[in-house]
Amino acid sequence: MLLKDKTAVIYGGGGAIGGAVARTFAREGAKVFIAGRTPAKLDAVAGEIAAEGGFAEIAQVDALDEQAVNRHAASVAERTGGIDIALNAVGFVHVQGTPIAELSLEDYFFPVSAFARTNFITAKAAARHMAPLGAGVIFTLSTPVSRMPGPGYMGHNFACAGIEGFSRHLAGELAPNGIRVVCLRPHMIPEAVEKGSHTREVFQMAASREGMTVEERLRGAAGGTLLKRLPTLAEVADTAAFMASDRAGAITGAIVNLNGGLLLD
Ligand SMILES: NC(=O)c1ccc[n+]([C@@H]2O[C@H](COP(=O)([O-])OP(=O)(O)OC[C@H]3O[C@@H](n4cnc5c(N)ncnc54)[C@H](OP(=O)(O)O)[C@@H]3O)[C@@H](O)[C@H]2O)c1
Repeated sequence: MLLKDKTAVIYGGGGAIGGAVARTFAREGAKVFIAGRTPAKLDAVAGEIAAEGGFAEIAQVDALDEQAVNRHAASVAERTGGIDIALNAVGFVHVQGTPIAELSLEDYFFPVSAFARTNFITAKAAARHMAPLGAGVIFTLSTPVSRMPGPGYMGHNFACAGIEGFSRHLAGELAPNGIRVVCLRPHMIPEAVEKGSHTREVFQMAASREGMTVEERLRGAAGGTLLKRLPTLAEVADTAAFMASDRAGAITGAIVNLNGGLLLD
């Protein structure tokens, strides 16, 4: 097992990516603490983990609320002795597909502010309970939009580029404490759309402007990659498990591409 007896906190743990990573971390031996706003989504993931014999605990936490996140992280750390792994898999519906001439300042700025805020809050809370251990891994999530030209992705482009910059900087801030930071950058995940991810609504906006369905847009995106395919949830979760393990101990400040070769760093 890659993560035997590790304590992992996953914000947005009831979502498509958060849930997939939670199940994989639990299979790899971690105790998984999943947090989000909707208990039913969290219960579903925790139930699947328990059915496989793993450990999962849920908590209703707004990942934009600093005090709530701090209280949750402190309560986990108090009972487990510290936090080993933290993932922010929170996602927000935001406007895509609207060119700058028609884009309001509010719609442009919402993803910038929401993603910057939640990643700061959760990383800061987790780092506080990793530092005394002298070890830990903090994950952020970005998308290839960070490096793609428009039109129509302006707020999300800034948000994703910001998450990547934040992750690199955080790696430098926390390296003296033995804490690694890894940013996962998957391309569009068709399975996530099928599982009720907020991304269906986001992709629908851009697809509608182009006269396409979401499924047609996903097929087009797959065709634009070197491998002519998009990532699976299992691939994202397995990559996270490896990156969280000691086998990836030399990796920090990295942006990990899971995009079939759409972007080459
Ligand atoms: N799916 C993709 O194709 C893809 C590709 C690359 C990157 N990503 C990124 O990966 C992340 C997760 O995507 P996903 O597809 O897994 O989305 P998802 O299925 O919609 O999951 C997002 C989760 O965030 C939770 N959430 C939203 N606001 C929250 C808040 N204030 N506090 C706590 N939890 C909150 C939601 O649950 P509640 O509403 O119940 O709280 C939901 O469970 C996003 O940042 C997305 O940009 C996704």
